[in-house]
Amino acid sequence: MTQSSGNDEGRYHGAMSTPSPVPEQPGEFERIRALESQYLLQNYARYPLLLERGRGCYVYDQSGRRYLDLLTGIGVNALGYAHPRLTKVIREQAGLLLHTSNLYYHSYQGPLAERLAKASGLERTFFCNSGAESMEGAMKMIRAHGRKINPEKYEIVALHNSFHGRTLGALSITGQEKYRKDFEPLLPGARFIPHNDIVALEQTVNERTAGIVLEWIQGEGGIHPISNEFGRKARELADRYDALLVFDEIQCGVGRAGTHFAYQLADPVVLPDIMVAAKPLACGIPLGVIVANEKAAQSIGAGMHGSTFGGGPLACRVAIEFMDILEGLLPHIQQMGGYFRMKLDELAKRYKFIKEVRSRGLMIGVELSIPGKQIVLDAIDAGLLLNCTHDTVLRMLPPYIITEKEIDRGIRILNKVFKAAAKQSAPVEPVEH
Ligand SMILES: Cc1ncc(COP(=O)(O)O)c(C=O)c1O
Repeated sequence: MTQSSGNDEGRYHGAMSTPSPVPEQPGEFERIRALESQYLLQNYARYPLLLERGRGCYVYDQSGRRYLDLLTGIGVNALGYAHPRLTKVIREQAGLLLHTSNLYYHSYQGPLAERLAKASGLERTFFCNSGAESMEGAMKMIRAHGRKINPEKYEIVALHNSFHGRTLGALSITGQEKYRKDFEPLLPGARFIPHNDIVALEQTVNERTAGIVLEWIQGEGGIHPISNEFGRKARELADRYDALLVFDEIQCGVGRAGTHFAYQLADPVVLPDIMVAAKPLACGIPLGVIVANEKAAQSIGAGMHGSTFGGGPLACRVAIEFMDILEGLLPHIQQMGGYFRMKLDELAKRYKFIKEVRSRGLMIGVELSIPGKQIVLDAIDAGLLLNCTHDTVLRMLPPYIITEKEIDRGIRILNKVFKAAAKQSAPVEPVEH
């Protein structure tokens, strides 16, 4: 999570009070900020924006100022804001049935699970409420699978620089010290290897390995795809040692990469035993899923796992609507991903501090040789939302409905912000054309 300092907050609150067509409620931002600082756990360092509403690719703050949102609530608002079809089903369902618990049937889990099976090539779904919760469930499946074979078979091989969530289990296989260090000791048995290192993978997976967990494209880690060879080797070793291969598609999945799931980018497709997804699946209504093949699904029997809220009628119905819309959007995501990439490559030629542009579909990272924090703040100031991960990687997860016109606008703002950054950092002048 990108941090913003007190100084930035002062500066950006100033920016928010610029004249706007909608009258600002004086002091509303300060009032909310004071309440939060008194009553909330102080774990988030928020950007100083009080968001009020959104439409399409734009979100508006309480002063009526509009921002082109290229981050979409960290990859959640895949259809932007106030999508008419989603708004309609949410309204309708709210008047019918919000929650049933998993003691009873409702009309939407079965049809959504069928869609997920068809889209993923896997077979059985468990519904929960978040990415981390889906990862916890997948880890329980790995443990239960290993234990059936041998109590010593509980190791999980994961990658350096990975991110799998904030719960204790998910943290145990998250390969980043900064997230782990305050909570150690974590679960035993996590073995970390470098990204795309096939030799390390071969040396680390063995009879004690119960699972291999990979993001096909590391998101929080800075938009790093794994190679097809690495993915294939992971599949081969998981089969050889009877371990479960798990793909964390929480950030890179459900359309983001231009395919239903990012692992489908490989040709031939490398199928996991389990896939977990969340973020965009119900476009802002919390929903996480574990989708497993028959073999992995056997690891969980009656009573071994559950969730009170998981897979409620509202979330599942919205997800079905979203999956319907997504079918028609996949070619658009690929097209817009290509267009955005081309425009960013052009910027990269102009600014020496852009080291690399990495993208798959609409999952985009721009690696800089200078810190990205101020660029993010300047972009907010100029009406554009994105964030920065690992200090130097600008991350963009635009809505799937974005058009060339909006991409052009985003590029214009970025160009302006980069120009200012180039002026400030003496050795990195823009390259003249
Ligand atoms: C790849 C990946 N896994 C897991 C998570 C955790 O998801 P959540 O924040 O919904 O618990 C995230 C969140 O950013 C993620 O990007």
